Amino acid sequence: MTTLFDPIKVGNLNCPNRIWMAPLTRGRATREHIPTELMATYYSQRASAGLMLSEATGISLEGSGWPYAGGLWGAERVAHWRKVTDAVHAAGGRIFAQLWHMGRIVHPSLHGVQPVSASATTAPGKAHTYDGRQLYVEARPLAIEEIPRLIGDYVTAARNAIDAGFDGVQLHGANGYLIDQFLRDGSNKRSDMYGGPIENRVRLLREVVQALIDTVGKERTAVRLSPNGDSQGVDDSNQDALFPAAAAELGRLGIVFLELREPGPHGTFGKSDRPPVAPLIRKAFKGILVLNSDYDFERGQSAVASGAADAITFGRKFLANPDLPYRFANNLALNADDQKTWYSQGPDGYINYPAHG
Ligand SMILES: Cc1cc2nc3c(=O)[nH]c(=O)nc-3n(C[C@H](O)[C@H](O)[C@H](O)COP(=O)(O)O)c2cc1C
Repeated sequence: MTTLFDPIKVGNLNCPNRIWMAPLTRGRATREHIPTELMATYYSQRASAGLMLSEATGISLEGSGWPYAGGLWGAERVAHWRKVTDAVHAAGGRIFAQLWHMGRIVHPSLHGVQPVSASATTAPGKAHTYDGRQLYVEARPLAIEEIPRLIGDYVTAARNAIDAGFDGVQLHGANGYLIDQFLRDGSNKRSDMYGGPIENRVRLLREVVQALIDTVGKERTAVRLSPNGDSQGVDDSNQDALFPAAAAELGRLGIVFLELREPGPHGTFGKSDRPPVAPLIRKAFKGILVLNSDYDFERGQSAVASGAADAITFGRKFLANPDLPYRFANNLALNADDQKTWYSQGPDGYINYPAHG
C-alpha cells in the first residue's frame, strides 16, 4: 500500500516523499518583484518536502498584482531566483516555479494600467495593493491578436525559470486568475474561438501548456486547477463537464502532474458546497494527480493509500512547519500558522518557525 513516505518519480526528478509544499504567496520580494535572501532561507528550510511549488510568480508586469510578490521577467530577477534555487538544491530539495498571470485581479494602482481578462468583468471584493485594500476595476478583454504575445510572456517566464535553476514550472490555472477566467463561463463571455463551448474555453490553457512543453519539456511542465466552486468570483455552470475535459486535454499533452485545489464545505481557507471534481478527473487524467486543501496527515495517507491521489500538497502546515515530513514521520505536534504574518514583509512568521534537528 502506498504511503506519504514513499518516493515518486516526477519526470526526471526523484522525489523522496509525497508530502509536497503547496504554492504560497508570502510577499517577501522587493517592490520591483525581485527575490530576496530571506526567500532563499525560507525555501531551503523546507527542502525536505518531496517537491516544493514556489509562491505564485508573475510572468510579466501586466500579470503581477500582488505587493512584494516575485517575478520571472528580466535578467535581474533570474539572477536572484538563482540564489533561491541554489540554496534549495544545496539543502537537498526540489522546486517548481508557479507561473502567474492574475488577469482581472491586478489592481491598476500597482502598475498604472487597466487589467486584462477574457471579458469585460470586475472581480468582487477588494484587491491587495501598496495602499491597502481597494475595489477591483473592470478588466479589458484581451484582443485575439494579443494572445500570441501573452503566450510569449509565459514562454519567456518558463525559460527564465529553468535558467534560474528551477526544476520545472507549474502553470497557475486555479483560484480565479487569468487562465481560470478563460476556463469558466461565469467570467468568459467571449464569442470568438476562446469563448463559448468548453473546447473553446479550454483553448488558452491548451495553447499555453503546449508552448510551455515546447520550451521546457513535458517532464518539467505541471498545472494547478481549482474545479469545485467559486474562486474570487470565477465559477462555472457545469464544473463536472468542464474540468474533466480540461484534464483529459492536459493528459493528451502529457504534463508531468496535475494539482487540484478543492476545499470542502468546512474548508478553513475557502469553502465549497460543490463536490470535488477529483474523482472524475482521476478517470480522465492518467498522469500524476496531486490533491490539496485542508489535508492533515491521516487524510493525506488515506488519499494516497486508496489511490485517490499520488501526492498531497500542504499549504499552511508547511508554512508553519519547515520540517513537516519529519513531524509526520515521528507523530510530533505541529506549529500553528500565524495569519498576521502570511503576507507581511520581513523575517517574522517567515523564517523563524521552530523546526527539529
Ligand atoms: C498565505 C497563503 C498564500 C497562498 N498563495 C498561493 C499561491 O501563491 N498560489 C496558489 O496557487 N495558491 C496559494 N494559496 C493556496 C494554497 O496553495 C492552498 O491551496 C491552501 O492554503 C489550502 O491548502 P492547506 O489547507 O494545506 O493550507 C495560498 C494560501 C495561503 C494560506
